Amino acid sequence: MQKPDLTTNDLAADFLQCPDRHDTGAEKWDRYQGRTTATGKEILPFWVADMDFQSPDVVLDAIRKRTDHAVFGYTHETPGFASTLTTHLREQHNWQIDPSWVIGVPGIVTGLSITARLLSQPGDGILTLTPVYQPFLFLPKLAERRSVRVPLHADVTAQRWTIDWELLEAALTPDVKIFWLCHPHNPTGKVFTREELLRIADLCEEHGVTVVSDEIWDDLILDGSNHIPFASLDHPVARRSITFVAASKTWNIAGLGCAAAIVPNKDLRHQWRQAGGGLVPMVNPLGYAASEAAWKDGDAWRQKLLNVLKYNKQCAVRAIQDIPGVSCIPPQATYLLWIDCNEWIARQPPDRNQPQHVCEEAGIGPSNGPEFGGSGYLRLNFGCPPALLQEGLERLRDAFGAYETSGQ
Ligand SMILES: Cc1ncc(COP(=O)(O)O)c(C=O)c1O
Repeated sequence: MQKPDLTTNDLAADFLQCPDRHDTGAEKWDRYQGRTTATGKEILPFWVADMDFQSPDVVLDAIRKRTDHAVFGYTHETPGFASTLTTHLREQHNWQIDPSWVIGVPGIVTGLSITARLLSQPGDGILTLTPVYQPFLFLPKLAERRSVRVPLHADVTAQRWTIDWELLEAALTPDVKIFWLCHPHNPTGKVFTREELLRIADLCEEHGVTVVSDEIWDDLILDGSNHIPFASLDHPVARRSITFVAASKTWNIAGLGCAAAIVPNKDLRHQWRQAGGGLVPMVNPLGYAASEAAWKDGDAWRQKLLNVLKYNKQCAVRAIQDIPGVSCIPPQATYLLWIDCNEWIARQPPDRNQPQHVCEEAGIGPSNGPEFGGSGYLRLNFGCPPALLQEGLERLRDAFGAYETSGQ
């Protein structure tokens, strides 16, 4: 087995260990708490997309400063929130927005639900490319809309995910009003190219569809690709689109409930709060303080994080390559690995052909692919200290059968 190009010597000490998250209400760790394997091992969680790392000091200091102020009344977008985000998007992604376009939302899942109500009527279709982050699949039904799914194509030779344009065009029937784009894409880690984004924009213009682009993963590009915000395109569909971003994935502050909707169109901005329909609370002041600090002062930490994630990605991809019948297309972004187990499944007796189940039996808990619309797949979260990942990868090997250890 090849050695990874990066070694643990390249990794900052902050990322080599993590605090114990048991009994902190951590969704990730609670799922398997108290459940052990037949040999008495705790099942290690590699599922929901948060990382086990502590947030950086710049974020913690901002939260402390805000708590020192000690008044936590109702809070709308703080003065620095929109301006800091504006600078961040210009510097990182070459996208110039106007700060007045920014609306604070307590979460992107909430924001997606608002767009369903804002941009379509009951019975209309919301299109997305599958597999995809689960709420893209179940939110339309909750809003009494139709979920329209177009599968991405795994180009194994080119090692990239591609769009089947004929399928996409055929799915754009007159009742489809919204395209929920996940960019970069969870779970495949695909970063859409300018050509792909422009072609999506052209199709949406032709069919009268509004694009909503969830760019929560935009600051976690692992392969040097360029993240191009959909709304930064010079295109009429881009100018009427809605984009979501957040500091939550990159700086590990999802529990603070803060994200931003970027809505360039003035009329849509005005209709936004109405569409929330009394269901959506204000963002909490600590979320604003933490997000602002992350965007403003968090880049040095993010660079160190990216090194760890690149290292972990190498280890995980190489481990997968060594397991017969299991494969993956390396993610361009995110800290998620989308693992194809279909060949392995085909070789198993029916009582052993559930990858999620055999993983849990071996002491590792990934996410189950069918939840994302990916039959026979698993999603592995590698946002954790390398030693924990190594333990997980060994258990994965045990789950699927023997492969030669890497000797790392
Ligand atoms: C693509 C995508 N959008 C949204 C979210 C969740 O966002 P929030 O916690 O702001 O609702 C996730 C979390 O994994 C995600 O992967």
